[in-house]
Amino acid sequence: MADTPSHVPLVDPFSRVIEDLRISITDRCNFRCTYCMPEEGMNWLPREQVMSFEEIEHLARIFVERYGVRSIRLTGGEPTVRAHLPVLVRKLSVLRNDHGPVDLAMTTNGATMRLLAERLREAGLRRINISLDTLQRDKFFQMTRRDELESVLDGIEASKAAGFDPVKINAVVERGVNDDEIVDLATFGRDRGVEVRFIEFMPLDAEGHWMNDKVVGQDEIVETINAVYPIEQMPARGAAPADRFRYLDGGGTVGVIPTVTKPFCGDCDRVRLTAEGDFRTCLFATKEFDLLGALRGGETDDEIAARIEAAVATKWAGHQINQVNFIRPGKSMSQIGG
Ligand code: 5AD
Ligand code: SF4
Repeated sequence: MADTPSHVPLVDPFSRVIEDLRISITDRCNFRCTYCMPEEGMNWLPREQVMSFEEIEHLARIFVERYGVRSIRLTGGEPTVRAHLPVLVRKLSVLRNDHGPVDLAMTTNGATMRLLAERLREAGLRRINISLDTLQRDKFFQMTRRDELESVLDGIEASKAAGFDPVKINAVVERGVNDDEIVDLATFGRDRGVEVRFIEFMPLDAEGHWMNDKVVGQDEIVETINAVYPIEQMPARGAAPADRFRYLDGGGTVGVIPTVTKPFCGDCDRVRLTAEGDFRTCLFATKEFDLLGALRGGETDDEIAARIEAAVATKWAGHQINQVNFIRPGKSMSQIGG
């Protein structure tokens, strides 16, 4: 098509082609999950330091049109706390390149999806992941510090009703906290027709209570499910982080994201923008590249693109969580973007 820009691939030093951009649109959140934020005392970014919708669109356009990025995922903090979110979704959902229209997704805690799902869907959001770590009300309160289990369950149903298919559920598993609910969560996924993806607990909590022995690894998660509902692994995942498994009785699929025990860095095609417009080439990166500053400073798209290429040239082979020389990023999950 004449009006579809052709792109040059964005390739890192290990020949990985960057095709997925995660954009954090706010550092704020209406929950305080223990594996992410402290109970009190988060210092929010001042509003003027956070990217406007126009700035997000401008930077996203460079990634999609110039570099052929295929998918964009909106994250936070909690993306739905941004006012007028469907307006942003509409701006981004029309971006396209040689691959076709951008595949626009969002990760949310689900608490307000009952009110938003339909409008987001209409605005062009294609895929949704909702976080749900427990089905017990008291434990939900303990883990998120909010009594919102019912709203999240409603949000999941509303998302299905709005036509998101599949709706995926993210469950972070922390030993001694919710590892006794692996089978219950799997059952929930089978009953509701949603794909539950168990996520290994990563060292990105604000309070620094992560320890290796709090990680429940993929093998253990798979064995726990398999003992009740036999599963088999599905073919290779490509660049997607989740290993997927099929229930042998036809009950659908379940995933595991084994960041800690089986890093998938070799296939990583992701880069990130924080809410303040800093570019990161890894969740665990310790260096950021200020694209919003460049944009606000009046740089041209060519100049900004040069910064993106210089940053991608520093993307490392993989994170070092399991090595003694691992350095935690100075930021926690809600400040980076999930
Ligand atoms: N380890 C693993 N997953 C995390 N998330 C937030 N903090 C952590 C952590 N320390 C997840 C959330 C959400 C996604 C954005 O990231 O549960 O699903
Ligand atoms: Fe909010 Fe998500 Fe962090 Fe929980 S994990 S506090 S929902 S940003």
